[in-house]
Amino acid sequence: METVPVGPGFAAELRGVTLSDIANDDAAYAAARAAFEEHSVLVFRGQQVTDDIQLAFSRRFGPPEVTKVGSMGMGSHFVILSTIGPDGKVVPADHRQSLRSKANQLWHTDSSFKRVPALTSILSARIIPEHGGETEFVSTRLAFERLDKERQRKLKNSFAWHNYAHSRGKVAPGLATPEEQAALPPVCWRMVWKNPVNGRGALYLASHAYAVEGMDAAAGTKLIEELTEAATAPGTSYLHPWKQGDVVMWDNRATMHRGRPWPAHEARLMIRTTISATEADGVATMGPPSSQAAE
Ligand SMILES: [Fe+2]
Repeated sequence: METVPVGPGFAAELRGVTLSDIANDDAAYAAARAAFEEHSVLVFRGQQVTDDIQLAFSRRFGPPEVTKVGSMGMGSHFVILSTIGPDGKVVPADHRQSLRSKANQLWHTDSSFKRVPALTSILSARIIPEHGGETEFVSTRLAFERLDKERQRKLKNSFAWHNYAHSRGKVAPGLATPEEQAALPPVCWRMVWKNPVNGRGALYLASHAYAVEGMDAAAGTKLIEELTEAATAPGTSYLHPWKQGDVVMWDNRATMHRGRPWPAHEARLMIRTTISATEADGVATMGPPSSQAAE
């Protein structure tokens, strides 16, 4: 296995290894896992991807999420990100499926709005538009390390509220259905996620974050916006242009990502599996200090 850096200080392509190798071989998994902890984004090219292979690979990293209510693939381990309607045609730009892909174009980390946040997401390209549709990543670990020590210290002891309805509301009012809102009440997380393997902290931010515990609404929003801007400053991102056979996985604890636009009439189909964070991934350190703060 060869590790080739592809981004500015993070993100690497793993060559000479397949998803099946990692699913079936302990040594291959250990090497991939070490690369994941170190580089935060891993790119695999030329893969033969089926749902079964993707899920077997994903399971290596932890328990797979069950797809939430209101998403395509609900109840399974797959999130279907598609602009193709049930009739096989590309849906119009104002269709719910299109608006949801717009919401994915905001900087975010997956599942920060869930009761159990995600360790990693694994995305495979099945149908790729001819133009655009890239996925762009930034390292919130490097963003955290760029902050001055005093700010780092404060953020390590700060907590932000995340809500799925908040990020969806930025795209279209009511995009999160009452059913989704009921299933996904706001959750509160520490603003820095310390990686238990290497001890490095990363900003834990997302378009889902809407308030900071103990700060008034305007000041909290301003802080979240400032940090997001700093984390996504020009020159800090890795842009992944998708090719057939590409699979990309990322560390939701240490990165943010966004989808890039593509012409609305071009079809795009991506399949995502998502692995929940466990105690070994540091999740126990992320909750608010008292249950009071979570109410
Ligand atoms: Fe995402």
